[in-house]
Amino acid sequence: MTRHLVTSALPYANGPIHFGHVAGAYLPADVYVRTLRMQGEDVVFVCGTDEYGVAITISAEKAGEEFSNYVRHWHDDIQGTFQALGIEFDIFSGTSRCEDHAHTSQEFFRQLDAGGYLEKRTSEQHYCTHDEMFLADRYVLGTCYNCGHEKARGDECPSCGTWIDALRLGSPKCRVCGNAPEQRPTTHWYLDMPKLRDEHIGQWILDHEWKPNVKAFIQNMMKDVPKRAITRDMQWGVPVPEDLAGGEEGKVLYVWFDAPIGYISFTKELMAQRGTPEAWTDYWKGDDARIVHFIGKDNIPFHCMVFPAMLYGVKQDYALPADVPANEFYNLEGGKFSTSEGRAFDVGGFLDKYDREATRFHLIASMPETADSEFTMDQFLTTNNSVLAATIGNLVTRVLKFIVKNFEGSVPPIAAEHVAEMNELILTGCGEFGDPAEHVRQYRFRRAAEQLVANAAVANVFMDRMAPWTLRKTDPVKAQSSLNTLCEWISWVARWMVPFMPGKAQAIWEMLGGAGAVADQPWPGIPTAETLRSLPEGQPLGEPAALFPRIEA
Ligand code: 2FM
Ligand code: ZN
Repeated sequence: MTRHLVTSALPYANGPIHFGHVAGAYLPADVYVRTLRMQGEDVVFVCGTDEYGVAITISAEKAGEEFSNYVRHWHDDIQGTFQALGIEFDIFSGTSRCEDHAHTSQEFFRQLDAGGYLEKRTSEQHYCTHDEMFLADRYVLGTCYNCGHEKARGDECPSCGTWIDALRLGSPKCRVCGNAPEQRPTTHWYLDMPKLRDEHIGQWILDHEWKPNVKAFIQNMMKDVPKRAITRDMQWGVPVPEDLAGGEEGKVLYVWFDAPIGYISFTKELMAQRGTPEAWTDYWKGDDARIVHFIGKDNIPFHCMVFPAMLYGVKQDYALPADVPANEFYNLEGGKFSTSEGRAFDVGGFLDKYDREATRFHLIASMPETADSEFTMDQFLTTNNSVLAATIGNLVTRVLKFIVKNFEGSVPPIAAEHVAEMNELILTGCGEFGDPAEHVRQYRFRRAAEQLVANAAVANVFMDRMAPWTLRKTDPVKAQSSLNTLCEWISWVARWMVPFMPGKAQAIWEMLGGAGAVADQPWPGIPTAETLRSLPEGQPLGEPAALFPRIEA
């Protein structure tokens, strides 16, 4: 039996989550997981904050806070945002809070070393005599040797995206004090990517089926892979295992080495909480494990190459990722979302003002699936007012209010002589419908959202064709049969809606008088004449209410 392990990129615990992150790596994963669950699949959904590394220490130092307090604050803030959006992980841990994380990461280091995939090397690195430290990654700034950008960092150039060899930066400066560093020797461990590539990972990448935008990105990635340092001279991080450190002090694992291992240690933590501590292996090892990483495109090299190489290199029977459905970037009205540049807004504040469910739907419908896309307020209003209210909202209130007013407020009966005619009309004569889950499974979330709306529109066409307001006077039995058919279709819409708008789906379910959680219903698939009549006649309706109140510009 397939076990699905779904992850979303671990957000750095150094600032708030914005819509760019949400639309890129979190909401699509949530929709995917909810869909699979309704389809009866066994799924575990894992995330947590990325709490080590230079991005964290620099921000914490700026804020004048202790690292552990600093990451705790942002962990809780980020978790709150996900809760407000209805993004429901099975576990939301953090790399410094998860008890087993250091141990699991150290085991990876140890096993890679035992397999001959690590190389210990002493080389010159930037050292700031003023701050008395080696300048790891972003602690050194200088001119990019690839594009000439003057504020390239020691790990990456933010302008051209090149992975930087810090020693080659022009006019290097210490980020903390601004002084020019000197070079001193230091020892680090390097991951032998060329060897891992040649043994297995290179061929695996070539053979693997990737989402088209991911494939385009990684085609040339394996050609020129250097050995990469996976340790740093820092205090904040997972220490290099003492017995392997060979007396070297102050060495921690590079954040990009330990972070993806967080997916594993958090799964262990979850299974321990559930009282089945061994069960994590079901999701990570063997042929049944199906691992899917949702990420933004900047994380592609680590998830499609480095982490798979690590999983392979430890020789512990880990499965390699089945899919890495990376998204492109989601921008804010013509520019990047950027908390540091003030081009962002507080998601919590947005949700205080606007409906969470319409927000989810809009982010899905405008997701940067195959190309960069953007959030605009105008388009958000259009989604709410002209798409959701006009199709789904209108359908539900129109039908249910009409029944409450004219037919005692319960699901009307359908006369036997009308069944075939009405099935035929709604199944073939009112517009195309399809199964949104088919698109979700292919990571076509925008298409899935469109399908949901198109499916609801079928019932609006049916209602206009049947005109129950006229039939009520000329043929009340037929009027009831048509309203029964409409209630039935609405119950399908409610079930199709769950992954996208779980709260509104439940509200509709209750307006139909349905018991329990609609999310616990099996996935409906595509209606046929055989499956269409699922709603009990005479089921008392709940209170119909507006689902997507108009938002004024
Ligand atoms: O780019 C980022 O925000 C990283 N914190 C993502 C890490 S994903 C994983 F590998 F943990
Ligand atoms: Zn300095």
